[in-house]
Amino acid sequence: MPTPTVNLRDPQDRRLPRISPPCGLVIFGITGDLARKKLLPAVYDLANRGLLNPAFALTGFARRDWSPADFENYVREAIEKGTRTGFDERTWNQLRSGLRFVSGTFNDPEAYRRLADTVAELDDTRGTGGNHAFYLSIPPSSFPLVSQRLAETGLNQRKGKEFRRVIIEKPFGHDLASARLLSDVVSQVFDEKDVFRIDHYLGKETVQNILAIRFANTMFEPLWNANYVDHVQITMAEDIGIGTRAGYYDGIGAARDVIQNHLLQLLALTAMEEPVRFTQEALRVEKEKILSAVRLPEDLDASSARGQYAAGWQGGTQVAAFLEEEGIPADSTTETFAAVKLFIDSRRWAHVPFYLRAGKRLGKRVTEIAVVFKRAAHVPFENSELTESGQNVLVIRVQPDEGMTLKFGAKVPGTEMQVRDVTMDFGYGHAFTEDSPEAYERLILDALVGSAPLFPHQREVELSWQILDPILAHWERTGALEQYPPGSWGPASAHDMMARDGRAWRLP
Ligand code: BG6
Repeated sequence: MPTPTVNLRDPQDRRLPRISPPCGLVIFGITGDLARKKLLPAVYDLANRGLLNPAFALTGFARRDWSPADFENYVREAIEKGTRTGFDERTWNQLRSGLRFVSGTFNDPEAYRRLADTVAELDDTRGTGGNHAFYLSIPPSSFPLVSQRLAETGLNQRKGKEFRRVIIEKPFGHDLASARLLSDVVSQVFDEKDVFRIDHYLGKETVQNILAIRFANTMFEPLWNANYVDHVQITMAEDIGIGTRAGYYDGIGAARDVIQNHLLQLLALTAMEEPVRFTQEALRVEKEKILSAVRLPEDLDASSARGQYAAGWQGGTQVAAFLEEEGIPADSTTETFAAVKLFIDSRRWAHVPFYLRAGKRLGKRVTEIAVVFKRAAHVPFENSELTESGQNVLVIRVQPDEGMTLKFGAKVPGTEMQVRDVTMDFGYGHAFTEDSPEAYERLILDALVGSAPLFPHQREVELSWQILDPILAHWERTGALEQYPPGSWGPASAHDMMARDGRAWRLP
């Protein structure tokens, strides 16, 4: 047989790393927490991995009255603190030569003219080739203004094959109506194909692994349905409080902050049918089918729970109650924990409950999807010999200990036929030598390359709000919030909700 030959120059050769084209990235909100902690280190790590074109340029836009040197110091400090791949002077010097700073308010047309001059200068001197992406790491209330000013200055206009893209951060609205309004504003300025909505969970390796597990293997998919699955639990637990984010968090709460986006995306990936290919369009079609088939139980009281963390001790540290956090009004009704039960009305998932929970100041930081299988219809061992055997569970550990666990029953060594639960583990850290890139590295690179599969479409955003809106409206009517001790697994009502169904939350 002839040996297959591979043309290494072939741009279609998927073994070559994808590298950004010559381009500029403009970050609005460069002084914010997200830019400092995540975006700047991610850009640097991409550069350090050789994934940014040498002509790449980064421009910060903010109110501060910074000199170029001040900006450089700020960026360098953020990178030194946050880099995953280690600080390297050569990478830094390459990146530094493409740094620009534009000082101005979001409203100031003059500042946008300076930005347009900067973009033109980068095309001339750095070779960014007219390709520019605008990252709005700012509150959504400022999207309309910034979009309008970008359009007035013509920064959204491209020539020929150049690109002009916008990258936006959640929250995409606070309900269905506001999400639609936001989208209208952005779509007046950018084409849908040029809008990249970040849900950073989709950039996580383990989240993409849900699709790999399901659709690159044969052994899971035959069991992945109502015939074998008893229920699914999706947990996103954090041990931190709201920290310095009171301004953002109050009035938003756990459901809007992470269930509307991260958890419903996890649910869609777990439940969807096989996409015809790995493209945004094909994934979107399948995710949308799931999101539109989600049904809320009639009794929302019995099938949802919410709470706020109380004061107490967590991990040996005394912590304040949510209502005592700086910037939170003492009568705030914002939830820091939320749990809901959902059904998916499809043949595959008929009557299988999906339980979602998310909260701050819980027992530990862990995100996982647990597919809990039905008990065997019959077990041929005498009950007395069956000491402890539960249900088979497949746990996809999204973080922090990325991997997968399969729980099943096995014989206990000895003369009796005793069966006990054991686990089989796959850990990313053990199986692969390379560290997983940060979600933002993957997503920023994808946006610069123009690859859309990992970005939710506006329709998915709207469907997610459609699911959440009735729950939020219900909670608004029901008033008082339950308190839960820090370090616990949420309010009693969350446990009652499971107990009523004869089930219990997993202890991750
Ligand atoms: C963000 C939420 O989307 O995700 C935060 O706004 C949350 O409240 C964060 O803390 C958690 O992200 P990760 O990647 O640490 O799980």
